[in-house]
Amino acid sequence: SAVHLSVQDEVDSTNAEVLRLWQSGSPGVPVCIADCQTAGRGRRGRAWQSPRGENLYLSMGLTFHGGFSVLDGLSLVLGVGVANALETLGARDIGLKWPNDIFLPGGKLGGILVELQGELQEGVVQVIVGIGINVHMAQAPGVDQPWASLDSTFPGQVWARNRLASSLINAVMDVAALFAEEGFKVFRAPWQARDIFEGQLLRAREGKLEGIGAGIDEAGNYLLKTNEGTVPVRAGEISLRVT
Ligand code: BTN
Repeated sequence: SAVHLSVQDEVDSTNAEVLRLWQSGSPGVPVCIADCQTAGRGRRGRAWQSPRGENLYLSMGLTFHGGFSVLDGLSLVLGVGVANALETLGARDIGLKWPNDIFLPGGKLGGILVELQGELQEGVVQVIVGIGINVHMAQAPGVDQPWASLDSTFPGQVWARNRLASSLINAVMDVAALFAEEGFKVFRAPWQARDIFEGQLLRAREGKLEGIGAGIDEAGNYLLKTNEGTVPVRAGEISLRVT
């Protein structure tokens, strides 16, 4: 279906703008990119630093059949699509940190925020997918973890945000269609090939569960190999940490 693209100089959040496009009844797939965000949102209620001109802030509105349970798998599916698109454009060694961070060896390159909008009718769900990628970012005051940008990691290349945006929009459309058709199973192996937790000693459930990272199951839960056997950790649970 056709994309309805809204290019903004400044917005509160591109996710919020996509919701407004949807609510105003715009036809097609609502998509917003912005040069900066004044209230960028991250996962778990955190803010997403969104300086002007330096990064990619992209959101898309997608509709799925199959109820709310599509969502956990969707964040992993999107990670695969984004990672593949970035490598097609010339990046290397893109890793995925469960459930949906985009990583480079030097730190976090970007994140994906999947917000459930609601159920249109029985089993038909609307979700807003937001993708933030560090492109030219040189400084990040207030960011409390190691981070990386495309420009500083792959300096031999021109990282044009328009080209990046069009590649990512196409990648998201493609993986969303494949996910709708085939389900999560076809994404399991490609996701695991990028798993940065594999083989690492990890803690979950507020430190009460410790184990070695062992990839994901067919539903996208993260697997920990513990003394008591392999335990699946769900996306809603406390985040995984390297011990
Ligand atoms: C995370 O890792 O916490 C997810 C970050 C998602 C940030 C993007 S930037 C574009 C879109 N608009 C937002 O307000 N958030 C997402």
